[in-house]
Amino acid sequence: MADITYNAASKCWILQLEGSTYCIGLSEDASSLQHIYWGPRIASAVASEMVHSSASLMGPFESPTGISREEYAPWGEMRFGEPGLKVEYADGTRAIEWVFDEHGFERSGASQTLWLRFRDQAYPLLVTLYYRIYDDHDVIERWVQLENTGGNGPVTIEQALSADWRPPRRERYRLTYLHGRWGKEMQVAEVMLGPGKIILESRRGMTSHQFNPWVALDPEANATEESGEVWSAALAWSGSWKIVVETTPRGEVHCIGGLNDFDFRYHLAEGEQLDLPAFVGLYSSKGFGGISRGWHAYEREHILPETPDAVRPVLYNSWEATTFAVNEQNQLELAEKAAKLGVEVFVVDDGWFGARDNDHAGLGDWTVNREKFPRGLNPLIAQVNALGMRFGLWVEPEMVNPNSDLYRTHPDWVYHFRQRTRSEGRNQLVLNLARDDVREWMFVTLNALLSEHNIEFIKWDLNRSFSEPGWPDEVERNPQRVWLDHVRNLYWVIDELRRHHPHVAFESCAGGGGRVDLGILPRVEQVWPSDNTDALDRLRIQEGFSYAYAPRVMMCWVTDCPNFVTKRTVPLSYRFHVAMAGSLGIGGDLSQWTPQEQEEAGGFIAMYKRCLLYTSDAADDLTR
Ligand code: DGJ
Repeated sequence: MADITYNAASKCWILQLEGSTYCIGLSEDASSLQHIYWGPRIASAVASEMVHSSASLMGPFESPTGISREEYAPWGEMRFGEPGLKVEYADGTRAIEWVFDEHGFERSGASQTLWLRFRDQAYPLLVTLYYRIYDDHDVIERWVQLENTGGNGPVTIEQALSADWRPPRRERYRLTYLHGRWGKEMQVAEVMLGPGKIILESRRGMTSHQFNPWVALDPEANATEESGEVWSAALAWSGSWKIVVETTPRGEVHCIGGLNDFDFRYHLAEGEQLDLPAFVGLYSSKGFGGISRGWHAYEREHILPETPDAVRPVLYNSWEATTFAVNEQNQLELAEKAAKLGVEVFVVDDGWFGARDNDHAGLGDWTVNREKFPRGLNPLIAQVNALGMRFGLWVEPEMVNPNSDLYRTHPDWVYHFRQRTRSEGRNQLVLNLARDDVREWMFVTLNALLSEHNIEFIKWDLNRSFSEPGWPDEVERNPQRVWLDHVRNLYWVIDELRRHHPHVAFESCAGGGGRVDLGILPRVEQVWPSDNTDALDRLRIQEGFSYAYAPRVMMCWVTDCPNFVTKRTVPLSYRFHVAMAGSLGIGGDLSQWTPQEQEEAGGFIAMYKRCLLYTSDAADDLTR
């Protein structure tokens, strides 16, 4: 059982988890928090007797605090490593000198939370470090709350990371991480660490295909799939992020992460509190298999939304079959074929709205295209329901085509700088969701769509990185907060939609796997890992995915050959076997499938349902 205790004699806090222990303690003068222990479970009495790292001075260029194993370092005094927090006070002072204030614990259900509050000795800033642990898990959620208690104007936050993780001193660490690009997400990469920093990040406003906010560290590259110690961390944030893995001149490795400070500034007003996203840590002595099982179990039990579906329903998506050329007739024909195979959710993808005949127009105009659906969507939905399936719909609410009524009406609603190009990606611009009016419009529009139709599944897409993140109307105030506020408002819109329409399941998609992270997972039942549906390429994508994320959220379609990305042809059975390692979907053009192929597909779908219903956790074991 998760247990947090405070040892007053040695001024340290001990977190006892399922198979691991974590310990932190105050320095003598209470001006810094020191990391003491993170590793296999030890008795609390043993942990509390461990001494704080003894920092031997390295000449006049360092300070004892600066080279100590600080748990979370504010920038100020003689600190030269990557700090957790850097601010500027209203009078121009740019250093923090804090002291411990108070602490507290809370238990809520299966979790226990510890908070430790520090206050700046001269300025009205409170910094509270949070730690949450769960019964039967080895994850530690860490985050930080900042509060301007007032009396001295705003506090400008220049860098605010969420947690700093410190694996124990060892000779040399291997860093394992996930990188990629469009069509090749979640590739496993590794590097032996030497002196210096490795920075993994996104500056794109979204999680990104290029790097996923997840890392693992193992000493001397000793860990295998089954054995060895691994320390891992993952960030709960869907916007620009940064993880710095730094090996200090003393050979200490630490891994600090949170919001990306690039181009970021946030004016924390008097009386305002700001909660930073969680950076979650996990220790396992059972190798990479132990780490991934730990992440999967945590996500299933504490992160993913509660759902009445023991396993994700088998889904059909018409994108690869009909692209933008959707209409009532062709969707109904596909739905009839899908239902015969045993499909449970039928999803109409892009092309159903506005003037959306290709990717040059229509984004932003979320009204049904009456040439394609003269009677609206409801007759199709009724027929899909009559076939025994739920109905799902694709949207991309954060984007707009310049060729749309929305943009013609509100050209100022997109991110842009005065006198500068509005760069288009896939012929679209990014809506400034940091604005309250855009947030309101998005909620009202989608709420109406869900209220007027029996939609039970939403695929939420995003098909370009952010650029020119300007907000001219806000220029006198705090335009650089868009990096934070866009994501906060995105979460708000999805959360509100879920609250109003609890029967609707969501899928996070960003042109494939560009938005997969612990921040979006509490808000979606599943994610789309890649637009590349080639089964052979998918093996690598799915393997990397499963290091960090539960296979049940990984939507995998069986599509047609030759594959549209790789031109490769592989047997239908092979495509099914690979797709069944996650949550199964079909994305091929069923109107072209032979009777034999349809029979084979029906057999696989029946087998998939039998196996997964036998044990609802089986999906999470299949790929590891
Ligand atoms: C990108 C997605 O990843 C695809 O599955 C599809 O939904 C297209 N967008 C539609 O534009």
